[in-house]
Amino acid sequence: MNEIKQAINDCENLKDLEQFRLSLFGKKGLFAKEFVKMKSLPNEKKRDFAQKLNADKEFFLNLLNDKKMILESIAIEEEMRDESVDVTLFNSTPTSGALHPVMATMDKIIEYFLSMNFSIQEGPLVEDDFHNFEALNLPKYHPARDMQDTFYFKDSMLLRTHTSPVQIRTMLESEPPIRIISPGAVFRRDYDLTHTPMFHQIEGLVVDKDGVVSFANLKYILEDFLKYMFGDVKVRFRPSFFPFTEPSAEVDISCIFCKGEGCRVCSQTGWLEILGSGVVDPNVFKAVGYEGVSGYAFGLGIERVAMLLHKIPDLRSLFEGDLRLLEQFR
Ligand code: DAH
Repeated sequence: MNEIKQAINDCENLKDLEQFRLSLFGKKGLFAKEFVKMKSLPNEKKRDFAQKLNADKEFFLNLLNDKKMILESIAIEEEMRDESVDVTLFNSTPTSGALHPVMATMDKIIEYFLSMNFSIQEGPLVEDDFHNFEALNLPKYHPARDMQDTFYFKDSMLLRTHTSPVQIRTMLESEPPIRIISPGAVFRRDYDLTHTPMFHQIEGLVVDKDGVVSFANLKYILEDFLKYMFGDVKVRFRPSFFPFTEPSAEVDISCIFCKGEGCRVCSQTGWLEILGSGVVDPNVFKAVGYEGVSGYAFGLGIERVAMLLHKIPDLRSLFEGDLRLLEQFR
């Protein structure tokens, strides 16, 4: 009796207790064997034996039950302790990422033009000579091709040097009126402080029936856009040349660093060159089979804008994947 009591007491967990219970009351347990013994007793002893055995049985069942309740509450306590959260522990929340400054700048530019009712068109990065040069009034052997040397594949295919070929694709696929921007990567054989072999541009093209859009519309929207982008700056249109526009203009803003006084960034000129633009050249319309239309176009480098907005001295640093640079834009 005492041994059994002690054994129940010594059980350290519910599993041991259950095992011990089976050793007492299982089919082959101690009590089953005792009841078997009863059969071989003389009849007059059977009654007392059975009464004693039943009393013992009840006693141990109660003991097992009590022990079970104690072990269960210990188990719950242990579980709660194991699963509890220590709110004083060091917080190592992973740091969040951020948009790359070039993409953030691109988004900001896109947002402006969407608000002005432009839609977005995209084109392939691997272009053919026709869309990238020929149809944009840059015939083979035209000296202006030299300014946009790129990476060539077989069969006159190349990595596009600008987003202007999307103008051609859009005009070939649809009818005026056209009012699109086209953001994306472009490629040139260039590598220095302000040039990388891959960079991004946004192209703009507006075409409508002859006389509906003019240089005045171009001037208005670009001035408005540059003020949205850079705040209170002066905007200047400077005559220039692009084969796909006539007349052409480069657009400058007053230097955002020296406010036009002259500094290192603006090479003492007081002006920063931001984009190229112009009235679409008739030869471009001829190449896509358009007649009786007029339009304007513009193109700007996104990295250049990002560099100015964030005072980034070396363009190449944007593409080295150095987290120390990128973390500054979180
Ligand atoms: N494609 C020109 C470049 O990459 C930029 C440009 C200038 C685009 C004038 C135009 C434009 O649409 O009208 O340098």
